[in-house]
This record gives sequence, structure tokens and C-alpha cells, in this order.
Amino acid sequence: MNEINNIVILTGAGISAESGVATFRGPDGLWEGHRVEDVATPEAFARNSDLVQKFYDERRAKLQSVHPNAAHAALAKLDEKWPGDLLLVTQNVDDLHDRAGATRLLHMHGELNSAWCLACDGRSHFDGEMALDPACPKCDQFGYLRPDIVWFGEMPYEMERIELALAQCDLFVSIGTSGAVYPAAGFVQSARHYGAHTLEMNLDPSEGSLHFHENRMGKAGELVPTWVEEVLSHV
Ligand code: APR
Repeated sequence: MNEINNIVILTGAGISAESGVATFRGPDGLWEGHRVEDVATPEAFARNSDLVQKFYDERRAKLQSVHPNAAHAALAKLDEKWPGDLLLVTQNVDDLHDRAGATRLLHMHGELNSAWCLACDGRSHFDGEMALDPACPKCDQFGYLRPDIVWFGEMPYEMERIELALAQCDLFVSIGTSGAVYPAAGFVQSARHYGAHTLEMNLDPSEGSLHFHENRMGKAGELVPTWVEEVLSHV
């Protein structure tokens, strides 16, 4: 492995599993009892906004009873201490990386605690219930807020910044993601194409496992702190 200066880390639902946040692809193929297309598409929102709002309201409310785990804490420590470039890209819409203290962080699939107003196009911090049709904190109009979540069929946020970071990184690390959803699932191939070393940490082999130079299988709460200490020992 060459000398490491720039690191890109991708996280998915698996990093929050030990905090008690449900992953997406459970053994029954359902997401907390729902088919993904019934709650996580613009079409579902157009068809039944109340069901979609209540689904995300429940998940938002649950954030209050979960806490960052050892993996979130370790990545926040790496973010604080790493002298080179670092970008933590999460697919998660929970706020556990934020609460652990990560700052070089990008939520590519949006955030539960953000509201997007379809009237004024503004985004505001939000921790209430959208099913109650509250007013937009920015333009005061009622009935236009939607979860600021990237649904299937929508473009993830900040792709240009991510692609640039992938092209410039020496190390790409993927943690707790099944590798089933693009474009995130393709980041490993982009990073490799530009010459980065690639490492996967996951409970079991993901759909993209074969693309990584190195795979470590186990729980994020155990693997990630060990790996962070390894990396920081070279600083
Ligand atoms: N430690 C590490 N990995 C774990 C743990 C754990 N404690 N628990 C579960 N995992 C792994 C699972 O084995 C699985 O491979 O985390 C992965 C979670 O995969 P998914 O549930 O598919 O979640 P994710 O990859 O983040 O989903 C991507 O899909 O529905 C969309 O937009 C949504 O961001 C989400 C995207």
C-alpha cells in the first residue's frame, strides 16, 4: 500500500445497526414492514403523502432514543486527528455521525432532521411531525414540506464533490453497506480506477466485496475502532 494522505469513507446502515437503527435489507426484504416503493419514492409521496410522512415521522422520532456507537465515535476521532484530506460520505439519514462529532461529513441521501419546502425550495432543520402539515420555517406556507431524503429515482446530493474526492483519495473504505444501491455501490470501482487502496468492513460479504483489495468481516463497533487506531498510529 502506498503512503496515505487522502481518505474517503462511505458508510451505510450497518454502522448504525449496533445503535438500534434498523438496516434496510432485512431477511424479509421489507423495510420496517413496508415495501421500499411504498415509502421511498417520489411516486409513493404523490400517491399517499400521509403514509410517507408518517413513516419518516416515526423514524425521526426514534432518533431521540438512539445514540452513536463505538464506530461513529472512532470515525469522529479520525476526522478530528487526520492531518490529510478526509471525506466521510454517509448514505444514512440518521444524525449519529453528526452527534459523534464528525465534521468532514456529507449526507448523500439526505437527513431525517431536515425539511425541504416545495414552495420556496428552502431547507430547514426539522425535528417535529410533518404529517401535521406544519408551516415552512423559511416561507411560512403550510402543506409544502417533504422529508429532505433522496428517494429511489432521485439524484443523491453533492455527487460532483464526492467524485472529485474519490479521484484524489489514496484510501477508500466502505463500512456497513450492502453495495446494492448505486451510485454509492460504484464508489469502490471509481476509487480503484484512480489508484486508491480499497477496504471493506461489513458484517458479511456485500454485493461488491470482490471489488475491494481487502475485506474485514465483523461488527462495525469492533472493526472500526481497531482500524482507526491502526491508521492513526502512522500519523
Ligand atoms: N456491522 C457492520 N455491518 C453490519 C452490521 C454491523 N453491526 N449490521 C449489519 N451490517 C451490514 C449488513 O450485513 C448489510 O450488508 O450492513 C449492511 C446494510 O445494508 P443495507 O440494509 O442494504 O443498507 P445500505 O447499504 O446502507 O442501503 C443503501 O439503500 O434503501 C436505500 O437509501 C437507502 O441509504 C440506503 C441505501
